[in-house]
Amino acid sequence: MKQIDLRSDTVTLPSKEMKESILNSQLGDDVFQEDHDVNLLEKKAAKLSGKNAALLVPSGTMGNLISFLAHCPRGTEAILGDKSHTFTYEAGGISAFGGIHSHQLKNEYDGTIDIDSIKNAIRTDNIHFPKTSLISLENTHNKCFGYPLSKNYIDQVSNIAKENNIKLHVDGARIFNATVALNTSLEQLIKNVDSITFCLSKGLACPIGSLICGSNDFINDARRIRKALGGGMRQAGIIASAGLHVIDNIDFQILEDHQNAKMLADGINSIKGLKIDASKVKSNIIYCRLESSIMSEDEFLNKCEEYGVLFFKYISGDYRLVTHYGITKEDIDYTLNIFKKVLSK
Ligand SMILES: Cc1ncc(COP(=O)(O)O)c(C=O)c1O
Repeated sequence: MKQIDLRSDTVTLPSKEMKESILNSQLGDDVFQEDHDVNLLEKKAAKLSGKNAALLVPSGTMGNLISFLAHCPRGTEAILGDKSHTFTYEAGGISAFGGIHSHQLKNEYDGTIDIDSIKNAIRTDNIHFPKTSLISLENTHNKCFGYPLSKNYIDQVSNIAKENNIKLHVDGARIFNATVALNTSLEQLIKNVDSITFCLSKGLACPIGSLICGSNDFINDARRIRKALGGGMRQAGIIASAGLHVIDNIDFQILEDHQNAKMLADGINSIKGLKIDASKVKSNIIYCRLESSIMSEDEFLNKCEEYGVLFFKYISGDYRLVTHYGITKEDIDYTLNIFKKVLSK
């Protein structure tokens, strides 16, 4: 049976061409900084992001953790959204490994954090308080409908950070979904940000890997911390070559993913029994709900799975569906038909 896996954009499998580029990778020992493809990918990532340097790491979680560890001395405080991935889904690593105190502020529906709340959250110089060392934003925002944060908003936050002599990090696991949604370049979007993590393994459809970008000093620190965490990899060109295969041609697939998400949202909007605010769909992530009188949330989920359509249910009762490489317009049609079929029984 056909399987349409809309659980996450992390489920993508590498294309034949990507596998060929992995086979042809030029390898060396990356802990010695001698892996040709890693060096090339890091150079390209630095250029693309407009930063001085970049570092390949195994995952987005490690990228965020290393960035926090590099920016925040132990016992200092990082401001981040209460729905952010770093706060919610990274196993509390920043406090476990960095002794970093997290100060969570409310994420609005669009992934922003109220500007005045950020200003008010920055600690004054008082021995009772930890020092604020970092603000972290997420772009696009996974739990906030995949909303992209605009340059204007990021710059406002950056001004606050600069005025207070603290750093600004962006968890850009899906930053290319943001650049495509906003029709801007990565360099422009994050011009006033100190560091960013972006993932190869999400919209870019690579099997493994993320990049951290920032200043030379920051990346030097990050490289040491990566080693300490056991993330120094040897012939990592196997990972980097997949990234090199996509990094020059990112936008095309992501645009299609966004169109498919919109098509899916509009289709869901016209199905009796499902509720969605299709106007909130800005990238490749969709949240919708079942009208409670029809069947239980789990029943709907399980019945769709029987027909090969997979997606997640959150504790809140929302379903999350994510479009990605490998999902076609025909798959969206099929999914919508399955939804209708299951709900009509
Ligand atoms: C917004 C965001 N940040 C970070 C991560 C962590 O990435 P990884 O799964 O590579 O650790 C994810 C993973 O889904 C994510 O959605």
